[in-house]
Amino acid sequence: MSIDPLQVKRYAHGSRVPGWDESNDLSKDPSVVPDAATTPVPAHVRTAIEAQMAKYPDIRSAAIPALKVVQGEHGWCSPTAIEQAACVMRLTPAYLTAVATFYDMFELAPKPEHDVYVCTNISCSLLGADDIYATMKAVAGVKVNVRAFECLGACDIAPMASVNGQYVGPLTAEDCTTIVEDLEAGREVLPDKQLRRRKAASIHWQENS
Ligand code: FES
Repeated sequence: MSIDPLQVKRYAHGSRVPGWDESNDLSKDPSVVPDAATTPVPAHVRTAIEAQMAKYPDIRSAAIPALKVVQGEHGWCSPTAIEQAACVMRLTPAYLTAVATFYDMFELAPKPEHDVYVCTNISCSLLGADDIYATMKAVAGVKVNVRAFECLGACDIAPMASVNGQYVGPLTAEDCTTIVEDLEAGREVLPDKQLRRRKAASIHWQENS
């Protein structure tokens, strides 16, 4: 299957990232740090965020890991998720929202449980990533969160994708169906194509020398 690159989904403003051009609502009150007495935060979420805060001299440096914690808890960076992180970090929700809206891997709307990020950057693109992306979207339907991403840093296995954080490649269009089937069955996804299972060059050399 070949695909017109213009078919890759873009929002009306031309970006693949939603919401960046939405203006602030100046009719609202300024956001304040959530009141700990009225903002319930699950104990394990609080503990996980505080563990991240303890790693940095400036606690704002823990904004990204804290957002990752609440996204993992809620499935996306919902207003409640942001409130909880802001409450623990003693920051305003607006501060954390600004971070969440900047980075691609934070989801700003509810999404399916599983994530497939197809790399469509240059190395992967030259090896058919646009076809992989289009096929993945077609076979996944609404069951899997399929997104196009810029270089995921694994160009040596291009064309590749991140499936729930697991890097797999080189991919063929046929692999897309297998990925969805594996996810639905709760199986390991494409075990033979997982980057983490590839032998390092030094180990390969030792075994074959
Ligand atoms: S271009 Fe796809 S991983 Fe680098």
